Amino acid sequence: MSMRCFLGMATLLAELLPAASRLDVGFYKKTCPSAETIVQQTVAAAFSNNSGVAPAMIRMHFHDCFVRGCDGSVLIDTTPNNTAEKDAVPNNPSLRFFDVVDRAKASLEARCPGVVSCADILAFAARDSVALTGGNSYQVPAGRRDGRVSSGTDNSTRDLPPPFFNATQLANSFAAKNLTVEDMVVLSGAHTLGVSHCSSFAGVGNSLADRLYNFSGSPDGIDPALSKAYAFLLKSICPSNSSQFFPNTTTFMDLITPTNFDNNYYVGVTNNLGLFKSDAALLTNATMKALVDSFVRSKGRWKAKFAKSMVKMGNIQVLTGTQGEIRRNCRVINPLSATAKHHESAGSSSEFTVVAAS
Ligand code: HEM
Ligand SMILES: *[C@@H]1O[C@H](CO)[C@@H](O)[C@H](O)[C@H]1NC(C)=O
Ligand SMILES: *[C@@H]1O[C@H](CO)[C@@H](O)[C@H](O)[C@H]1NC(C)=O
Ligand SMILES: *[C@@H]1O[C@H](CO)[C@@H](O)[C@H](O)[C@H]1NC(C)=O
Ligand SMILES: *[C@@H]1O[C@H](CO)[C@@H](O)[C@H](O)[C@H]1NC(C)=O
Ligand SMILES: *[C@@H]1O[C@H](CO)[C@@H](O)[C@H](O)[C@H]1NC(C)=O
Ligand SMILES: *[C@@H]1O[C@H](CO)[C@@H](O)[C@H](O)[C@H]1NC(C)=O
Ligand SMILES: *[C@@H]1O[C@H](CO)[C@@H](O)[C@H](O)[C@H]1NC(C)=O
Ligand SMILES: *[C@@H]1O[C@H](CO)[C@@H](O)[C@H](O)[C@H]1NC(C)=O
Ligand SMILES: *[C@@H]1O[C@H](CO)[C@@H](O)[C@H](O)[C@H]1NC(C)=O
Repeated sequence: MSMRCFLGMATLLAELLPAASRLDVGFYKKTCPSAETIVQQTVAAAFSNNSGVAPAMIRMHFHDCFVRGCDGSVLIDTTPNNTAEKDAVPNNPSLRFFDVVDRAKASLEARCPGVVSCADILAFAARDSVALTGGNSYQVPAGRRDGRVSSGTDNSTRDLPPPFFNATQLANSFAAKNLTVEDMVVLSGAHTLGVSHCSSFAGVGNSLADRLYNFSGSPDGIDPALSKAYAFLLKSICPSNSSQFFPNTTTFMDLITPTNFDNNYYVGVTNNLGLFKSDAALLTNATMKALVDSFVRSKGRWKAKFAKSMVKMGNIQVLTGTQGEIRRNCRVINPLSATAKHHESAGSSSEFTVVAAS
């Protein structure tokens, strides 16, 4: 076999191999041995101050991965020239605790400058958040590189499923990322933690999202798939027009144990306490409902599957090798000159401005 043919086959093979093989557990073992510990300690410290940090990190990783792949693009700040992903409707104002990522990055830059990507920080922080709240810890394959594009105005954030999606739409949304119906039902269980703004289920003027006041075809305006008692509780938390006048009001998504990583999300969904249409939708499809039922029966089964699906999600369209860059400040794309210089000699980092995070 000629060299050219061999190389051609190697390239073909590399393309055919599943994305999963391109990241490695322990990727920073030699280049930054304390990387995962630094992220864990930063997240744990922030979590002990505010338990909302855990759901925030888990969702941030999801929203990073579904838009342009897990490339840290969700962390980029808007500039006068560019409205970034984080300022698109699905992310603003709901994504929170970007400062925790900044603190982890600042510590990592102090210890091993220019080595650990922001995309990997998100993957580690999500895993640490699952473990801190009672889920199973798991090994995170790493080696993601950071993207240089983040747009809140092109259609890339449309890849995020909105809360009014039905079962078919949810399945399609995850299938577009090579995730199965089972992954979708398993990962939806993350709604066992965290909060939602009123606009996600009672949006005024958004008849698609409104489950409380103007649900299409319902005489009392309430989505019949929602428990009446819960609907009245939600109305007291989110009065009509609240998203207009109290845009920051939030409510827990898992009524039963809002800060524990347990299977009570599925128990709630089964009892018509799923907060979003997308939660309730899991009961409308036989395959999905069977999965929900099985996770109600076995918390352990769900926790194990959650770890696996998170690793799968963390592989979506990753940049590796020399693709992208290792951002110095997770909020800012590296200056072009720095990128060029970096490719020339990885050793000379003196010209980079290491921006201390706020
Ligand atoms: C299946 C489709 C999904 C839909 C439609 C959906 C939708 C939403 C919405 C609308 C919120 C509330 C945002 C707000 O108004 O504040 C939310 C919160 C949340 N979502 Fe999802 N989500 C989905 C899947 C996922 C997945 C796959 C994960 C992670 C693996 C996830 C993790 C979370 C977490 C942890 C929160 C709480 C965030 C916080 O407290 O800061 N969701 N989701
Ligand atoms: C602790 O949490 C409060 C609000 O929840 C926040 O204002 C403060 O900055 C946090 N402190 C640290 C060290 O994270
Ligand atoms: C932003 O836009 C201005 C005017 O169009 C341009 O001069 C400037 O170079 C741009 N900055 C970046 C960072 O692209
Ligand atoms: C975004 O636009 C591109 C190019 O027009 C198209 O291929 C892609 O399917 C669109 N994505 C969504 C989510 O609409
Ligand atoms: C889900 O929504 C799509 C798009 O609106 C619609 O075509 C489809 O019939 C709906 N499916 C179900 C099961 O409701
Ligand atoms: C459940 O949803 C999946 C994915 O959209 C679909 O293939 C399947 O036909 C649905 N099952 C039923 C019983 O509707
Ligand atoms: C899904 O898998 C196919 C086939 O391996 C691949 O071409 C495609 O890029 C993948 N899509 C995503 C979003 O990872
Ligand atoms: C209620 O929803 C319908 C569409 O289903 C819409 O035409 C109407 O404007 C909505 N009313 C209010 C008060 O939002
Ligand atoms: C909600 O706002 C609309 C206009 O956006 C107004 O017509 C309506 O009276 C308001 N409803 C309440 C209960 O304040
Ligand atoms: C909601 O929160 C944002 C961001 O913290 C803040 O700028 C805004 O003033 C708040 N709005 C209200 C009505 O409290």
